[in-house]
Amino acid sequence: MKKRDSHPRSGVFPEAWDRGPDPETLVPGQAAKLAELREIAPPRAADYERASRGLAGAADPAELLERHSMILGRERGQVTLALGEVGKLPIEERKRTGRALNLIKRWLAEISEARRSQLEAAADSRSGPDVTLPGRRPWVGRPHVLAQIQSELLDLFHGLGYSVYESRESELDEYNFGKLNFAPDHPARDAHDTYFLSPGVVMRTHTSPGWVRAMEERRPPLRLVFPGRVYRAEQVDASHMDQFHQIDGLNVGPDVSMADLKGTLNTFARSIYGERVRTRLIPIYFPFVEPGCQMDVSCVICDGRGAVTENGSERRCSVCRGSGWLEVLGAGMVHPNVLRAVGYDPEQVTGFAFGMGLERIAMLRHGVPEIRLFLENDVRFLGQF
Ligand code: DAH
Repeated sequence: MKKRDSHPRSGVFPEAWDRGPDPETLVPGQAAKLAELREIAPPRAADYERASRGLAGAADPAELLERHSMILGRERGQVTLALGEVGKLPIEERKRTGRALNLIKRWLAEISEARRSQLEAAADSRSGPDVTLPGRRPWVGRPHVLAQIQSELLDLFHGLGYSVYESRESELDEYNFGKLNFAPDHPARDAHDTYFLSPGVVMRTHTSPGWVRAMEERRPPLRLVFPGRVYRAEQVDASHMDQFHQIDGLNVGPDVSMADLKGTLNTFARSIYGERVRTRLIPIYFPFVEPGCQMDVSCVICDGRGAVTENGSERRCSVCRGSGWLEVLGAGMVHPNVLRAVGYDPEQVTGFAFGMGLERIAMLRHGVPEIRLFLENDVRFLGQF
């Protein structure tokens, strides 16, 4: 190999290092440094040049570390060893060599450090995505638990021939109460029980006013369901909210009977609460139906026993409070006054209606003890359904 300069070398570093790149790009000013060393101690200048190319040409961090230790290692490094010998030199040479070695030590450390950062930067830019990492699952939303129950119900009633009628949330007092046969002094009209928007306009307290609107717009026969949010000026607690969701159903036609109502409600109950559920109808008053009833289903927690077995002992079922029954909806035959109010002839058509709360279904199905959770929109809650 052609010699780069005429100065003798100490020969402590491999000749192959000479093929390394000029360290000028790593640490500028190499020519001046070499010139200075040649001035002070020519053989050391040649060693410096070879070592500097060796460091600049280290292919990877491991090779760099190996060369760095060979040159600058605290115990076995050639520069370190040479510095240890300085004391043995004659006085004038001692000064010059000492100075040269200290410069070499500093300058080579700079080159070593620069090459190290360069190799690290290259490694960073080379390391693309780690294809062995598991993929990131995109966050996928889902329908709200109440929306799930609502669509399940709409699906069920769709199968029974019902269409959806969406009615307004702000409703005329007249439709929310009057045309539904509430007496003018009915306590539900009280400003304390209802949100009034302005005189004669309320936030609907139930989805039943939808029937009135639908019947006024359309001629019988009708089979409709009325889903939506309703409002009441409730004292809010774990089981009362001032907003909740209902779905009403209405079936009006020439021969619609109470038997049809029972059949429809039993189909509903089995679909929502399970095949084995038992049902019962209890007479109850609602102004807009006659006769009016409530439907109970056998308690889904204790299977109608009224008690649950816990750790071998019997305890009263807390969900049905020991009765074995759960009240799930109101229903009845549409009151003739309501039919008359919409211009239908009660002698020609009859109808049944029913109405239920969606939160109630969700709470029983999922064991949710607190109604307020449904509208808080905390994804830690909603993500469970
Ligand atoms: N609208 C009533 C309420 O919110 C529930 C109800 C009872 C609806 C009887 C009906 C019905 O359709 O026939 O309390």
